[in-house]
Amino acid sequence: MKILGILGSHQEHGLNAQMLAEVLENVDPDVETETIYLENYDITPHKYHEKNAVLDELVQKMTESDVWVLAAPTYFRELSGVMKNFFDCMRPKLVYFKENGDTIPGQFKDKHYLSITSCYVSPLENFLTGVTDESFKTIDRVMTAAGVIKVGEIVLPGTFGMKSLPNSKKKLCQKYAKKISIRKRKDDSTLKRYIQLFFMIALMALITMGIQIPLQSVITNNFWLNYLSFTIIFFVLLACILHFVTFVKHRRR
Ligand SMILES: Cc1cc2nc3c(=O)[nH]c(=O)nc-3n(C[C@H](O)[C@H](O)[C@H](O)COP(=O)(O)O)c2cc1C
Repeated sequence: MKILGILGSHQEHGLNAQMLAEVLENVDPDVETETIYLENYDITPHKYHEKNAVLDELVQKMTESDVWVLAAPTYFRELSGVMKNFFDCMRPKLVYFKENGDTIPGQFKDKHYLSITSCYVSPLENFLTGVTDESFKTIDRVMTAAGVIKVGEIVLPGTFGMKSLPNSKKKLCQKYAKKISIRKRKDDSTLKRYIQLFFMIALMALITMGIQIPLQSVITNNFWLNYLSFTIIFFVLLACILHFVTFVKHRRR
């Protein structure tokens, strides 16, 4: 098994490089690792019928690897241009075109990736305003189009004046190192998501029925009143939990 680190920062030894190194140094001993610093490559778009030796070399490294760790800082609230240019130039390798112009995943389908970014603003400001959101979203968009499966993400806000990684982030990098050391087949979190959904619905139904008990004097044994109150209460609770799970819990700090 091989893990490839891809660094798209202006700084070869900056904080993203340190997070990437912390991940790669802590993978299981039998896992091979390699790091590519994108600034060392003259990455230009792939032109049809022309050989592009740089892209070919990078494609080979990506093909040989099972997991990619994509590390790039947030610049102007977006993914760094270095990483974005790499994705743009790689597009013909990442996705294939159907005759009607739709794209389908290319040759890297079912590989896995971990994304890393950082920004100057504080953890609280990043939580409230989502400065790093676009960086992750761009990576996710490209990888989804390419059929590459997400393992997780690491964000480091508050980097102004920071020279080395806080211990909490080092631990997080080490945790992900262990996670990506295990060979995965396709998207094996589907079952987990169904189990989570089952328990969410079971809990919401229980709370809804609990709320209905004191309302019995109003709704009596009328089927339609029972049904209507259940639907409304269940909907409100489900909307709250979905908002929490998809928005609040996933805010990057
Ligand atoms: C061109 C440029 C634009 C930046 N834009 C932002 C920004 O919009 N918001 C922010 O919080 N930090 C911004 N930063 C700060 C970087 O995100 C921060 O320095 C990052 O942690 C550097 O990572 P590195 O040490 O891996 O190079 C910017 C830095 C540069 C060089």
